[in-house]
Amino acid sequence: MGKVTVIVGGQYGDEGKGSIVDFLTQKADIVARCQGGNNAGHTVVIGNKSYKFHLIPSGILHKNKLNIIGNGTVIDPEVLCNEIRQLEQEGVKITDKNLVISSNAHVIQEKHKEEDIKTGSKIGTTGRGIGPCYKDKINRTGIKIYDYLNQNSDKQNFDCIKKLKPLVKDTSFVVNKLLGAGKNLLIEGAQGSLLDIDHGTYPYVTSSNSTAGGACTGLGIGPTKINDVIGIFKAYVTRVGEGSFITELGNYNQCKNENKDEVLNKSDIAKANSGDGYTQGKMLRKQGNEYGTTTGRPRRCGWFDLVAAKYAVMLNGLSMIVLTKLDVLSNFETLNVCVAYEYNNKKLEDFPLQAEILEKCKPIYEKLPGWKEDLTQIKRYDKLPENAKKYIQYLEQKLGVPIFIVSVGPGRDQTIVME
Ligand code: GDP
Ligand code: IMO
Ligand code: MG
Repeated sequence: MGKVTVIVGGQYGDEGKGSIVDFLTQKADIVARCQGGNNAGHTVVIGNKSYKFHLIPSGILHKNKLNIIGNGTVIDPEVLCNEIRQLEQEGVKITDKNLVISSNAHVIQEKHKEEDIKTGSKIGTTGRGIGPCYKDKINRTGIKIYDYLNQNSDKQNFDCIKKLKPLVKDTSFVVNKLLGAGKNLLIEGAQGSLLDIDHGTYPYVTSSNSTAGGACTGLGIGPTKINDVIGIFKAYVTRVGEGSFITELGNYNQCKNENKDEVLNKSDIAKANSGDGYTQGKMLRKQGNEYGTTTGRPRRCGWFDLVAAKYAVMLNGLSMIVLTKLDVLSNFETLNVCVAYEYNNKKLEDFPLQAEILEKCKPIYEKLPGWKEDLTQIKRYDKLPENAKKYIQYLEQKLGVPIFIVSVGPGRDQTIVME
């Protein structure tokens, strides 16, 4: 039997799942998306070229691997066609040998996008029609992609139908047969654990299960087939859209108005290191280039939150962790890590599930020493500055799960595998 590894976002999305999936695809035969749609934006950087995937799995750039868009996803047909066209222009040929689409995936229709744009702004959705499409699926009034492609309506884009039809398969059989033949499967989660419809900060969540359980229902494989669940965490936290964010630095309205092209200068760094919260957030945003892949919105930034991260470890049963964007923490004299929340003069160690409690929580921080060195060219763990190693060891010890990869830049070759 082939091995199954699930990759999930440990925070609020954009943890760097795409680049880690691309890296781990070297050892996989199949890469599959199991939930979400083109609300996701996964970036893969190879050399000086950057690819952004919304629906197509991030394994597509590797030769001789099968990529699957699973039944749990929601598909905007034109967006998918454009993504395929874009890849073909860049020399990646798409056939049913490297990309298949589940016949059972649901279709995002025009009315879904219209509804999302009208009603989603309170939550800060991506406006891609995700929630309304899942709503119709659950209500049993949706359209599956197989039916959509075979309905011969004159409103359809025929080029697009012609492109997608040959790729549509009953993927639950495809994937289980390949596993039976010993092929290894990597499942690429979208969004993050705290955006999960059941376990996230409802209603400020997405409309699917972005925790590990979604991998089984979203592909048609049984839980006994899963060998590993890997959680991807940024070395700090970001969030796009509305919703609670206990360790946020500065406030959302300030960061919304920030000019993307403005560069960080020495006096900003000095101001951040003198303890100015908003400037610390801005420093993370600028050094981490924290602007959305899908919508271009500035991402809200804050310190690593162990309370939320431990909740994600629990929900997903994580067996391993990848820590990304460690390079972004350079130049901070001191790093804060949130170890508990304060609520009504009480100390909370478990992530509160009631919105009214969460809203009133304040972070309790422990301080760790920072480092000045640039990490982006470092290839081995033992070459990292002592304080960067301390930071990794501290998080690993607190989370109780091994950190097996640390990434120090967007490139494939900026991924450090721990010995
Ligand atoms: P995803 O949605 O989880 O796949 O993440 P995104 O692609 O939306 O956002 C992550 C961003 O950070 C992308 O622009 C990546 O190229 C970039 N990135 C990934 N890993 C690292 C890293 O270790 N360091 C830096 N500086 N950038 C990274
Ligand atoms: P990846 O896969 C970050 C957020 C939106 C909004 C909420 C609901 O790139 O990590 P939706 O359009 O899903 O109904 O929006 O969820 N959101 C994401 N944030 N990364 C994502 O995907 C996201 N997908 C949705 O900003 O707050
Ligand atoms: Mg993203």
